[in-house]
Amino acid sequence: MNLPPFKLERYFAKYEFNTEFLLCSSDCEAMSIADLLAIEEDASEKFQQVWLGYTESQGSPSLRVEISKLYETITPEDILVHTGAEEAIYLFMFAAFKRGDHVIVHSPGYQSLADVARATGCDVSPWRAREENQWALNLDELRHLMRTNTKGLVINTPHNPTGYLMSRADYKTIHTFAQENKLLLFSDEVYRESEYDPNDRLPAACDLGEDAISLGVTSKTYGLAGLRIGWIATKNKKIYERMASLKDYTTICNSAPSEFLAEVAMRNRQKLAQRNIDIIKNNLVVIDELFARRANLFSWVRPNAGSMGFPRLLKGDIENFCDDLVRKAGVLLLPGSMYDDSRNHFRLGLGRKSLPLAVERLEKYLNSY
Ligand SMILES: Cc1ncc(COP(=O)(O)O)c(C=O)c1O
Repeated sequence: MNLPPFKLERYFAKYEFNTEFLLCSSDCEAMSIADLLAIEEDASEKFQQVWLGYTESQGSPSLRVEISKLYETITPEDILVHTGAEEAIYLFMFAAFKRGDHVIVHSPGYQSLADVARATGCDVSPWRAREENQWALNLDELRHLMRTNTKGLVINTPHNPTGYLMSRADYKTIHTFAQENKLLLFSDEVYRESEYDPNDRLPAACDLGEDAISLGVTSKTYGLAGLRIGWIATKNKKIYERMASLKDYTTICNSAPSEFLAEVAMRNRQKLAQRNIDIIKNNLVVIDELFARRANLFSWVRPNAGSMGFPRLLKGDIENFCDDLVRKAGVLLLPGSMYDDSRNHFRLGLGRKSLPLAVERLEKYLNSY
């Protein structure tokens, strides 16, 4: 197996825990265990009683009940809980693909969605979203990327890093296309429920067909990355069983305290999501004003969901800019090169309460740029 370094994670390993302002995080503002438990009257007491033995490999039944409420047609038996979304991506790729297969992957994107597929030995074609199309995907290009051995299609919406939320019409066309061509559709929905207008929310892929797999996690919209609880939801029993059996070689089962806390979180997920959407919306006001003042320096496609955007620096080199900014001002941005983007984009995180202060610091730096 040949897995290259995960560029974004290596970058974060260097800066995440020693930089004052993280202005490029993909997750929303977290909270303490005490604050989470305070959401439910008897949760704190029950948490003390959590049994620290092995847990059920597919995830605790009561957690799967709560997760299944995210979907229209999914039962708890269709949910397989993992240690983060990352484990689920890893196991899905090995369960679904093999050497000689071809997979089409939404790009730019979260690196493991393409590179774990490659590590299984299959060929990966990036399906590129472009800034000039407001980060929408071109459906004609998908048809051109198809080969006789294409087995899978990987999409991510709301999208990391652009915050792009696909239109309902495009989403429907993609599903029909996947069904007609017998493709497994892996739909990374870890930013779902963070749409700025809830009317824009797309149906979950797993509700639209047997060969679709939806990916979810507590980390992003709900702001609980430290729980490391992710899941897949699918009616495809073959993929489910293969992933369940591969999981015996990675984590076997999930952390019992995390499963309890994730259950509390998912039961109250609307409250958690709203808290974070409010933070994002307040931050967007600050960011819109910044980019209006600095229109000569940045181009900006405003996201319509999620906790990220992917602006472009119009002057200078983005890697040097980010490097100098973090060293001189203690503000971390993520250069687009971490996504193999060569057009001077950078990832901007919108989900942290510290954003207004981080932007103040950034502007001070820009005054001498
Ligand atoms: C699109 C996407 N999928 C999956 C993941 C993995 O989520 P987690 O780190 O919670 O496992 C991330 C994390 O950044 C992501 O952005």
